[in-house]
Amino acid sequence: MNDPKVNDDMLMPRPVCDSQSEMIELVLPNDANPLGALLGGRLMHWIDLAAALACHRHSHSHAVTASVDHIDFLVPVQVGDLVILRSSVNRVFQTSMEVGVKVFVENYIADISQHVASAYLTFVAVDAKGNHLKVAPIIPESEEQQRRYEDAGRRREIRRAELQRRKKR
Ligand SMILES: CC(C)(COP(=O)(O)OP(=O)(O)OC[C@H]1O[C@@H](n2cnc3c(N)ncnc32)[C@H](O)[C@@H]1OP(=O)(O)O)[C@@H](O)C(=O)NCCC(=O)NCCS
Repeated sequence: MNDPKVNDDMLMPRPVCDSQSEMIELVLPNDANPLGALLGGRLMHWIDLAAALACHRHSHSHAVTASVDHIDFLVPVQVGDLVILRSSVNRVFQTSMEVGVKVFVENYIADISQHVASAYLTFVAVDAKGNHLKVAPIIPESEEQQRRYEDAGRRREIRRAELQRRKKR
């Protein structure tokens, strides 16, 4: 384990809205299976990138993916659809942050938008040498941000318990 390195400027508390990010992808044939449906792995890659954007914006540092909670794929996505990924940091702990990513598919011909997937990821802030960095506190402002903040605390406890359980095996 590395000692967290502290930098006063980086530790200034920031509101959740500063981390909010949006990424849009047009699904091309190279992203799809032979039936023309988006590959789950490609969507997971985009989710990871969208989450990283929010982490970088909040922490002003590099960050690595520590874990991804489970992902359900709710509706199929076809070649030609637009995939919109919205991310924001839900809560900061010491060196780690939980990020939520919500994914929508938009068919601009039919003018339809549907929820495709949601995921929670944990990132750890690191410097260029891989040392863990302490992350600035986050300020939830709206009721929804406050709810996500509380929920993130409960999810962290579940993750930690699960990690301990696996280590004992
Ligand atoms: C993730 C990683 C940084 C954790 O480092 P570590 O030394 O094992 O973990 P530590 O016990 O020091 O914990 C550091 C922080 O990570 C968190 N953490 C560690 N493992 C975690 C997990 N599986 N899920 C969620 N959080 C985790 C800890 O809770 C702690 O958070 P805190 O500082 O906010 O309290 C390290 O395992 C790593 O570098 N993994 C590879 C990351 C990577 O390459 N990702 C890209 C995908 S290949």
